[in-house]
Amino acid sequence: MSRRGSYGVDAPGALIGLVAGAVIALIATVAAFAAGWWIAWLLLLCAAYSVASAACYAHTTSRGKFAVWSDELAKLRLDGAERVLDLGCGRGAVLTMAAGLVPRGRVTGIDLWRSVDQSGNAEEATRRNAEAEGVSGRVDLVTGDMRSLPFEDGSFDLLLSSLAVHNIPGGEGRERAITEAYRVLAPGGRLRVADFQHGEEYASVLRRLGAEDVTVRDLGWRFWYGGPWFGTRMVSARRPA
Ligand SMILES: C[S@@+](CC[C@H](N)C(=O)[O-])C[C@H]1O[C@@H](n2cnc3c(N)ncnc32)[C@H](O)[C@@H]1O
Repeated sequence: MSRRGSYGVDAPGALIGLVAGAVIALIATVAAFAAGWWIAWLLLLCAAYSVASAACYAHTTSRGKFAVWSDELAKLRLDGAERVLDLGCGRGAVLTMAAGLVPRGRVTGIDLWRSVDQSGNAEEATRRNAEAEGVSGRVDLVTGDMRSLPFEDGSFDLLLSSLAVHNIPGGEGRERAITEAYRVLAPGGRLRVADFQHGEEYASVLRRLGAEDVTVRDLGWRFWYGGPWFGTRMVSARRPA
């Protein structure tokens, strides 16, 4: 799976924190060994853990999430004419991949382009990535908040979102985002929301709204943001036909 675009780093502040922690732990370990302190062995364990955690995060944001989404989109067996919406599309990692699978469809991405959530996040960067991946002709980008979607009811056959809904502070706001996502889904439409928090919360909102086949499942180590305690889960649902 080779990608021609440039997709930045998710929550760059978190990765910087992990790398800084690893560097500090390594320096402390070397100093403690030089001084002959027994605590050096404990520091060595901390350093190893910090390095592994930073490496795991870097792998997920640059390769792992792409591999997982590639598998997830393949499983959907799209017919190629779907209207797709990506909530919080950022620089278009999932958006452009989905657009590659719907040669007769359209893919819309909506975002507030917050650079704290993804490095270099900007509508222009996403447009450049759509061009680089050869899908710009079927991609629409909209600046907006996923809690209030500027689309008609039932406008999309497939609703996607990756690591975006958790950025909304407060359960009420996230409930609004999931309710909006369900509103714009066409009868028979499918929803796939990947997130590293609140999966069960999204699922219970969807069940309340009448969605069918609502499930929450773990997406495995390739989607760990630093370790298993920051693993990502996929919420799936379908709107009755
Ligand atoms: C970690 S990035 C993930 C981007 C992209 N889905 C990906 O996987 O590469 C989270 C994205 O959610 C967007 N976002 C956060 N809150 C939002 C909101 N209320 N409405 C729309 N987008 C939002 C951010 O601007 C950012 O692009």
